[in-house]
Amino acid sequence: MSAPVTAVIVGAGHRGVGYASLALHKPDMLKIVGVADPDELRRMKAAEKFGVPGENLYETAQEMARVPQFADAVINGTMDLDHVPTALPLLEAGYDMLLEKPICPTREELLALLETTRRTGRKLMIGHVLRYAPFYVAIKQRILSGDIGDVYAMHSTEAVSYHHMAVAFIRGRWAHRSTNPMLLAKCCHDLDLIAWYYSGIRPAHVSSFGSRTVFCEAAAPEGSGTRCLVDCQIEPDCPYSARKNYLEQRRWGMYAFEPIEHIQDATDEDRERSLREDSPFGRCVYRTDGDVADHQSVIIEFENGATASHDMITGTAQPGRHVHIWGTKGEIQGFMENGSFILRHPDARAGCEYSEETVDVNVTMDGHGGGDLRLVEDFVRAVRGEERSISSTDILDSVYGHHTAYAADDAMVERRVVEIEDLGEGSGH
Ligand SMILES: NC(=O)c1ccc[n+]([C@@H]2O[C@H](COP(=O)([O-])OP(=O)(O)OC[C@H]3O[C@@H](n4cnc5c(N)ncnc54)[C@H](O)[C@@H]3O)[C@@H](O)[C@H]2O)c1
Repeated sequence: MSAPVTAVIVGAGHRGVGYASLALHKPDMLKIVGVADPDELRRMKAAEKFGVPGENLYETAQEMARVPQFADAVINGTMDLDHVPTALPLLEAGYDMLLEKPICPTREELLALLETTRRTGRKLMIGHVLRYAPFYVAIKQRILSGDIGDVYAMHSTEAVSYHHMAVAFIRGRWAHRSTNPMLLAKCCHDLDLIAWYYSGIRPAHVSSFGSRTVFCEAAAPEGSGTRCLVDCQIEPDCPYSARKNYLEQRRWGMYAFEPIEHIQDATDEDRERSLREDSPFGRCVYRTDGDVADHQSVIIEFENGATASHDMITGTAQPGRHVHIWGTKGEIQGFMENGSFILRHPDARAGCEYSEETVDVNVTMDGHGGGDLRLVEDFVRAVRGEERSISSTDILDSVYGHHTAYAADDAMVERRVVEIEDLGEGSGH
């Protein structure tokens, strides 16, 4: 049996520690041997959780990259803007890397990362966890088997629920278009699924429309204030009420109470005070300084003439993802949350129109449809040089998925069709 892959956590936040938890479930696969995080509390908590010795703790990725390499790989769970600045020195230092999505906010940084990956020959996997969700894997298997022939069109939708939208993209840290266009932050998964299903075919042209019409002052209901717990007359009836979402429903506490993370054993009183006084999570959703689009539609033409479109809708009652894929011999349609999809084929027998089969998929809704830890397992296999799953393709697919998001943002703002350049051959690993 192979030895476990050794890894360091860079960015010991929610996602980094979540991925690293494979080491606790399957110690024969992964062992965490180092941590880098400027936040001392998080660094020490992660060190304790994974039994990391004090000499392997660093304040930053950059500092860690300056000492001789002491692990096989990096789990990079830093925030979006820190991804490339932390990734480059560690790839140069010899580490393979699992890097959270979205890769980075600009084309320039992405190209620098691609160049470094190609030159150093390091393995780089992106945290596209939905590629590992059994629902999407089962669809990919049907496409690869030729069941629906050559795919020439797809449509997908992501509905982002009212409470998720508010905590992350209105009140939270992904609220500004200049650093985190919403399509890139949220739907880079969906654009990646499209790129993965069309693997190896370049998206060539992108157009897109979208705007912010829901979460703005003009749409604020009468009686709403600036902070839910301070000056709002409609708080008891508002679905976005910070009191309801974070104190009563107890949703998204990991984000909503991050501002008081340093208080040990925080009480409900501490939480309420934070929402009332200065937490960004206590603000009225109609009156923030954010500017990401709250709905956006994208159309993509691939170099072979195939097409795809994606709708991002936010503030919805029900969250979820829908996909519909058409091939020359049939079609696939499903909602991830249903745990099944429908396969249809034309049926030209008298009295028929088409045949239909429901394919059940064993779906767990934990960790992105069950994708999170499966992705880390595949990363471990990649580092070991073992055979990887069909979810792991050349980094170029991930790069094109992100280029589609950048192009869609430009297309939406500038009201034009944007061309995506040919980035040449893949990285080959
Ligand atoms: N896969 C998904 O579906 C999914 C879901 C949510 C978030 N994300 C992405 O995951 C990433 C991490 O999100 P999070 O909520 O875990 O963030 P987080 O803020 O909880 O963690 C980031 C950590 O990085 C640390 N850090 C900052 N600079 C550093 C440096 N130079 N060296 C080392 N550490 C440094 C911070 O102190 C922090 O503890 C983001 O890019 C986010 O967009 C992905």
